[in-house]
Amino acid sequence: MPDAFARARQEFDLPPDVTYLNTAFMGPLPKPAVEAGWMGLARKSRPWTVAADDFTVPVDQLRATFAELLGAPGDLDGIAITPSVSYGVSTAAANLHLRPGQLAVVLEKQFPSDVYAWERLALRHGGALHTVAAPADGDWTAALLADLDRLGDRVGVVSAPPCHWIDGARIDLEAVSAATHAVGAALAVDVCQSLGAEPFDVAAVRPDFVFGATYKWLCGPYSVGFLWAAPDRRHGEPIEHGWTSRANSHCLACLADYTPDYQPGARRYDVGEVANFALVPAALAGAELVASWGPAATARHAAAITAAVAAGAERLGLRVAPEHLRAAHLLGIRLDPSVDAEALAPALADQGVHVSVRGDAVRVSAHGFNTVDDAGRLVEALSVALGRSA
Ligand SMILES: Cc1ncc(COP(=O)(O)O)c(C=O)c1O
Repeated sequence: MPDAFARARQEFDLPPDVTYLNTAFMGPLPKPAVEAGWMGLARKSRPWTVAADDFTVPVDQLRATFAELLGAPGDLDGIAITPSVSYGVSTAAANLHLRPGQLAVVLEKQFPSDVYAWERLALRHGGALHTVAAPADGDWTAALLADLDRLGDRVGVVSAPPCHWIDGARIDLEAVSAATHAVGAALAVDVCQSLGAEPFDVAAVRPDFVFGATYKWLCGPYSVGFLWAAPDRRHGEPIEHGWTSRANSHCLACLADYTPDYQPGARRYDVGEVANFALVPAALAGAELVASWGPAATARHAAAITAAVAAGAERLGLRVAPEHLRAAHLLGIRLDPSVDAEALAPALADQGVHVSVRGDAVRVSAHGFNTVDDAGRLVEALSVALGRSA
């Protein structure tokens, strides 16, 4: 195991008797992020120490870290800071203009923040939501491509993530992007369940918009996220009109010299009070730690853990998707109807093992601070909870 992962657990407040395989629910805030957040909060008790630069410099550092993780190093102009994925999706939806009757395409059981705003957009234009049915063979890419082929230019926007939030089922976004652009539609990608845990490359995927939140795989606080907009999508209308996104915001004395001009690029879409003095430093510390592991190395590290969980689950007679159809860091273990799914997560938590149950799947998340020993503890706890031996 590379040194970074051998030491990673020490960066978090994870007691020895806690096996935390639940980053898809909420990533733990690392100790340096807790410290940075406390310091930021305390700073506010001495407001005379807050300078004009504090409204922009840390926020731009955060933009830089997100841009690097998105495979667009230096593209600070592409990033807006948002409080949530839903805020980013609403901003994108406010700036996409569908033709009458066009469809917004989503996946069955996609996360609600990626559905509601698209549905409203389509309805506003006399269109509808089109839901790609969950494929029986687990191949979402083939299912999505088949629907795009059938629907053609009736499609106005496609909302798709790199992997499904419920069970980690993988979607080949480069193939989906080619098909989406071929029918003249826009591509909106939610990386909330993958950025930081695996590489992303905006140049290869060519999305119109990308959304994320820091509180999962970026090990940041709740209520900090981002929107990345493609270069031709950076001139739109924000959903709120605060002073910090305007061109003169660096001059606190001149704010009443109202200006129609914005800060460069996607900064115009920033949430109001973007320079949150406690959350921004905490988000930066968390994202920098995750970035320091390297997304490709983290994916390889996580793959070894999810593979051990998958093998153990199969020994217990449970089903998982084949390796080529699932993300390295997120695994759904399908439960047969005889198992009381709702009772299972608490039964595992009683044994110190934390995962989520979503629908009929136990969702297991592996990040840089997890180890293959965690996989062994989960399989053992499953064996006890289900009364089955491996
Ligand atoms: C795929 C996905 N997107 C977004 C979110 C969070 O959305 P929001 O930031 O709008 O609360 C989650 C939370 O579980 C998620 O799984």
